[in-house]
Amino acid sequence: MLKGKSIVLGITGGIAAYKGAALCSKLVQAGADVKVIMTESAAKFIAPLTLQTLSRHPVYIDTFEERDPSVVAHINLADQADLIVIAPATANTIGKIANGLADDMLSTTMLAATCPVLIAPAMNVHMYEHPAVVRNLELLAERGAMFVEPGTGQLACGYVAKGRLAEPEDIVLAVEAFFAQGDLLAGKKVLVTAGGTIERLDPVRYLTNDSSGKMGFAIAEAARAMGAQVTLIAGRTAAQPPAGVELVRVESAEQMLEAVTSRFDAVDIVVKAAAVADYRPVKQHDKKLKKNGESLTLELERTTDILQTLGQRKKGQLLIGFAAETEQVEHYAMDKLKRKNCDLVVANDVSAEGAGFNGDTNIVQLFGPEGLIESLPMLSKREVGRRIMEIASDRLKSACARGRGE
Ligand code: CTP
Repeated sequence: MLKGKSIVLGITGGIAAYKGAALCSKLVQAGADVKVIMTESAAKFIAPLTLQTLSRHPVYIDTFEERDPSVVAHINLADQADLIVIAPATANTIGKIANGLADDMLSTTMLAATCPVLIAPAMNVHMYEHPAVVRNLELLAERGAMFVEPGTGQLACGYVAKGRLAEPEDIVLAVEAFFAQGDLLAGKKVLVTAGGTIERLDPVRYLTNDSSGKMGFAIAEAARAMGAQVTLIAGRTAAQPPAGVELVRVESAEQMLEAVTSRFDAVDIVVKAAAVADYRPVKQHDKKLKKNGESLTLELERTTDILQTLGQRKKGQLLIGFAAETEQVEHYAMDKLKRKNCDLVVANDVSAEGAGFNGDTNIVQLFGPEGLIESLPMLSKREVGRRIMEIASDRLKSACARGRGE
């Protein structure tokens, strides 16, 4: 299952480091090319020779031991990895990578890595629940790290509690599930809109909203990671767009309408995460407006509802809308789904802490024609993006199967 996959396995200094050997062996047996980085403390618990023998590669411990002059080892390891797995991950290593420290081979490689990361923590229960560790884990989650939660059982310190490293078999399953995602949307075209629109009054003034674009970007990134060909139509955003997608920049609702409708026929899934202005100034002045009098009345007119337009035109495309609400979330979400002929609506209560614009987390509920499909807890926007696209891929598959009469 893992043939052709390049995995960096980071082993840090906890008693569970010995399980790193079993994990390494299972990953290699599943076909992965595994390069092991150990911290110095990990090397006190288990011999690097064991990992070298199991991985069939030299083990990296010292950042300055450059064996191959043609490359810089930590950059090369980071660049080649499809996934970095850290198991066991101690509180110390979690703290270092959450805060961007780079004082050993593993933390330095982590800082250079752009690939996904899977972390399997293992430590004493009080350490695991310490607010500093909790915050560091949250920071990593907000940046999109995936986790294999520790199990509950006998800890080395004598406690019977949560903190014990997940079993190597379960970590391998998580690794396999991550790579299996890569095919979910293979061959599919996904169009995502993100950010807020800008409706100009004059050359220097405009109406806009607080959307950061982070949710739409996370969805685009998730769709690309699942193998889709992604077009991202972005208005005003405050976040860095993901790599590997076609990025089209627009300003106004009108420009977004044109960019989306001209591509609609060729795509399989549309996700309308953008916060599109509902109204624009009737008149857009070519020259800067001069102040004149004590008050100014702006006349606004409705923009075209892009989602509704797509809902009327759709021919088999899966259409996903967003509903930002502050009350009666289910009622308004279902109303939007029906009115705009959507297949899914992602709704959030933007007044809840940890949800909505600008932050790195969101709390959403997914609705389909049948009603509530799933209520997600507070998750990183990346994790929410992954879940939305998993459900989208499931729905697309069922729709295709129905189309074939299965
Ligand atoms: N949307 C759109 N075109 C518009 C306005 C909104 O495509 N001109 C899309 C958004 O991208 C989002 C969904 O519609 O997917 C949000 O619906 P909307 O009815 O605009 O939400 P609210 O403004 O929150 O709704 P309401 O004013 O009905 O409370």
